[in-house]
Amino acid sequence: MEDFLPLKRIDYIEFFCGNAKQSAIYYQYAFGFKLTGYSGLETGNKAFASYILEQGKIRFILTSPYSDDSFIAEHIKKHGDGVRDVAFEVDDAVKAFDETVKRGAVPVLEPTIIENEDGRFIKSSIKTFGDTIHSFIERKNYSGKLFPGFVNASAKCLKDITDTGLKAVDHMVGNVELGEMINWVEFYSHTLGFNQLLSFDDKDISTEYTALMSKVMQNNTGKIKIPINEPAAGKKKSQIEEYLDFYKSPGIQHVAMSTPDILDTVKRLSSRGVEFLTVPTTYYTELVKRIGKIDENIRELEKLGILVDRDEDGYLLQIFTKPVEDRPTLFFEIIQRKGARSFGKGNFKALFESIEREQSLRGTL
Ligand code: FE2
Repeated sequence: MEDFLPLKRIDYIEFFCGNAKQSAIYYQYAFGFKLTGYSGLETGNKAFASYILEQGKIRFILTSPYSDDSFIAEHIKKHGDGVRDVAFEVDDAVKAFDETVKRGAVPVLEPTIIENEDGRFIKSSIKTFGDTIHSFIERKNYSGKLFPGFVNASAKCLKDITDTGLKAVDHMVGNVELGEMINWVEFYSHTLGFNQLLSFDDKDISTEYTALMSKVMQNNTGKIKIPINEPAAGKKKSQIEEYLDFYKSPGIQHVAMSTPDILDTVKRLSSRGVEFLTVPTTYYTELVKRIGKIDENIRELEKLGILVDRDEDGYLLQIFTKPVEDRPTLFFEIIQRKGARSFGKGNFKALFESIEREQSLRGTL
């Protein structure tokens, strides 16, 4: 079947945040991103300030509004800092918009053409869950490295900060309300032409207290993966409900970034203040029995709290940060795949018990 929405890559992930200037320092210092672009008052942008940060193929945009009557300010007031836009690069942003809107997507931005000395740049956007959107970016006739309206900001990049080895976005996960997962699975399959890669129910993902269900959606090429979670009935409040309570709507729960050397990446991140979830030492005494022989030294993994899981294609190593805002909402996953194409099902129980300990400390379990 012809792919009516060929997505080339994740072009960027945009975060709306209360103080983009300070957040830009955090992502540079703690995560090792490079500041590459800026738009704001000095560039003639009177509506908002935006900072472009890059590492490997990952591009983040951090945006803060200048005025209280901006929709960006509304977004921050309601959700706190969080992901606004997961943008895809496409060959044809007009067709991407038309095809998805024809299939029921709610338009946010009609295809908008910007022409300047760098060529022709086209952007369009549609709604997805909550206040989150997907933009389609067409840059095939645009030679600019950044976006129209941005200037090179590398001179303001923090000096002497090394990267942390992060290479690409592996997947990003959406949390939606109870009973809504199936509707969003239908949205991604019908409206965006994605297919379902995997499904987990509350028997796979439950602890004594909490449960959740998840379906993993991927685009035609399998490059873009978006698992969708919804809470399932448990004795206590699940992490998904906690997210929905604090984010005040569905939204992006975590962004997973890949590295070719998770031991090195996590050492660097930890030394710069990134906080990770931990699991009990018993996890590691049972590890070899569960996953067999691996290349890494188990002691090293244990020291850093890195988790391992195996599937029929190989194994993966992963670790999760604590939320990176005061509201317990968005967090990051660091993942190294050694053949495995799954998402660490074997770690769900240990991980959720770890999250529950954190929830308990917050009084939200
Ligand atoms: Fe994940």
